[in-house]
Amino acid sequence: MQITEEAIRERLAAVKYPGFNRDIVSFGLVKAIDIHGADVAVRMALATSDPEVPKAIKEQSEAALGGLPGVGSIRVVLDIQAPAQAAGVGAVSIPGVKHVIAIASGKGGVGKSTVAANLAVALQMHGAATGLCDCDLYGPSISLMFGSRERPSATEENRIIPVEECGLKLMSMGFLLEDASPAILRGPMVTRYTQQFLRQVEWGELDFLILDLPPGTGDIQLTIVQTVALAGAIIVTTPQEVALIDARKAASMFAKVNVSVLGLIENMSCFISPGDGARHEIFGSGGGRREAARLRVPLLGELPIDIPTREAGDRGRPITAVSPENPVSREFLRIAHKLREALA
Ligand SMILES: Nc1ncnc2c1ncn2[C@@H]1O[C@H](COP(=O)(O)OP(=O)(O)O)[C@@H](O)[C@H]1O
Ligand SMILES: [Mg+2]
Repeated sequence: MQITEEAIRERLAAVKYPGFNRDIVSFGLVKAIDIHGADVAVRMALATSDPEVPKAIKEQSEAALGGLPGVGSIRVVLDIQAPAQAAGVGAVSIPGVKHVIAIASGKGGVGKSTVAANLAVALQMHGAATGLCDCDLYGPSISLMFGSRERPSATEENRIIPVEECGLKLMSMGFLLEDASPAILRGPMVTRYTQQFLRQVEWGELDFLILDLPPGTGDIQLTIVQTVALAGAIIVTTPQEVALIDARKAASMFAKVNVSVLGLIENMSCFISPGDGARHEIFGSGGGRREAARLRVPLLGELPIDIPTREAGDRGRPITAVSPENPVSREFLRIAHKLREALA
């Protein structure tokens, strides 16, 4: 029986990238297939610093091809990119944008968008040209946090022009997907939208582009990490164990695709009662610090639960933009300063 390239691809499409729901073929790992009679050689390329990943892919690919009727010898060769040159599998840099930073969390509702918005404002206040891109297709909130209802326009070349608020260039999937209910978008569609979206925005010259990722560590997050070359990721968590578990998952997702974690931000660290100044550790204490130490990444900041911060977000202006003297704003300005130094 004749062995075809198609049959081999089909077999390999049953092999999942370790830790993900996505297969290695759709992931773009398979670079070449050579067939000589019954003998098959497959070359793959991937970027990872985790030695378990290529090992598992090789073993599973060999096993998958072994099941092909009539196959003779099987050779699976993996090119593993050196960590320094790898920035996510197949990721490309955005022209004109110096540093792309993803704000991630495993868990929803921990304050990722709040951090993304305020950090972008703080970077801009430090004099860095900054953009903010809301990649949360199912729950976009950046447009609300900046009180913007503007519809972005497009250039003649059909590139999307970002909205401007607070001196920031702003884009949200929410701006574009008004008519298509995100709930009906299936996985592959989401992936395609996300890629198109990230590649078609006319950001211009930026020092920083902050990406507000959707919560979780699934295919959408993986697509984003693969589509653009990231300077690194910041993980947001609360001190609570359930959030820390998910923060850990996010960290391991970035490790697998070789994106460095720039640090951890602990949000909702405590509540200082406005009446008597008493400190209440509502979600526990020290979780962020312990997790940062465990992951060997810096703890970039600890933010209290703060009523003006919540109100400012709801009103459509991040706290850092309206009250730079607020303790939360000062913490964001400090984190932004650290970040600029770390990436300078
Ligand atoms: N430090 C904080 N103090 C008070 N409210 C906060 C704080 N961080 C986030 N929030 C509020 O919690 C809610 C969830 O935050 P959000 O940034 O949307 O989280 P995520 O993007 O992780 O889902 C929002 O209503 C936000 O205003
Ligand atoms: Mg959010």
